[in-house]
Amino acid sequence: MKNKRILAIVGALVAIVVIAIAVSSLNGKKETSTKEKTVKIGVLQYVSHPSLDEIYKGIKDGLAEEGYKGDKVKIDFMNAEGDQSKVATMSKQLVSNNNDVLVGIATPAAQGLANATKDKPIVMGAITDPIGANLVKDLKKPGGNVTGVSDHNPAQQQLDLIKQLTPDVKTIGALYSSSEDNSKAQVEEFTKLAEKAGYTVRPYSVPSTNEIASTMSVMTAKVDAIWIPIDNTIASAFQTVVASNKESKKPIYPSATAMVEEGGLGSVVVDQHDLGVATGKMVAKILKGAKPADTAVNIFDQGKSVVNKKVAAELGITIPDKVLKEAGQVIE
Ligand code: TRP
Repeated sequence: MKNKRILAIVGALVAIVVIAIAVSSLNGKKETSTKEKTVKIGVLQYVSHPSLDEIYKGIKDGLAEEGYKGDKVKIDFMNAEGDQSKVATMSKQLVSNNNDVLVGIATPAAQGLANATKDKPIVMGAITDPIGANLVKDLKKPGGNVTGVSDHNPAQQQLDLIKQLTPDVKTIGALYSSSEDNSKAQVEEFTKLAEKAGYTVRPYSVPSTNEIASTMSVMTAKVDAIWIPIDNTIASAFQTVVASNKESKKPIYPSATAMVEEGGLGSVVVDQHDLGVATGKMVAKILKGAKPADTAVNIFDQGKSVVNKKVAAELGITIPDKVLKEAGQVIE
């Protein structure tokens, strides 16, 4: 009788220990599995041009800074190569691939993703006009499944640079794509500010890269300088812009460092790598539980100036010492 009771107690104790070990090992497993869980990020880049490539690199750097690197993260990357039908099919694909967060680099890509899903979180990678592009309702409180990073063109600073480098310019031609929502608001803002400063602005929009050369030949005969907003179509065919300007030799003021490097005279620009890093960090924030609906859009509007000395020499322009001294970057 006594032995039986002792046996029962020992048996119960053994059972408790076994259960305790089992439970704790299960918990342990659960912990390591969340720690080692690979997150899946779907990225859609609209087109290839150096600025967007730099943004994508920045996104990976920003994610890594937040600990999402190596086998902790799997990036499902697609590039639509400027093709709207590819934007649509790739957006659907990225949604059905079960990614945890989606990223759209450039306006048409973010719009494609936003059309493909109303509930999966989407992070905008450098979108110039999130409201005009119908991606968010309110920059502080986006309200839906989209938030991210916005690159606002420092138009006033660009105009100041135009005045300093080329004081004789009176008429500026604005070259941009008619199909990009990001360009419209920029052209409006630039025109308003330029007219206030006494310039005449003539808009020249192109439906695609195919019309750039012919538009350039009409435009260069009518303007003193060319200004280009943050526009993917023009950025992806900037070599054509430069080639079409060989004889007319007008100063070109684009809106990204890469285009100044490729033959623009100068600009005041937002740093592309910084935009990417901020986008990557925003993705990390969403992965950690923040909701796009109440995560404010991160706006970059601080410009740094960049000038191209080689182009200046070709155009017979001397860059004032003050501009060189204050420049964030001088291309020799
Ligand atoms: N902001 C652009 C958009 O909304 C994308 C972009 C980012 C871009 N950096 C650029 C376009 C530089 C041209 C050049 O689509």
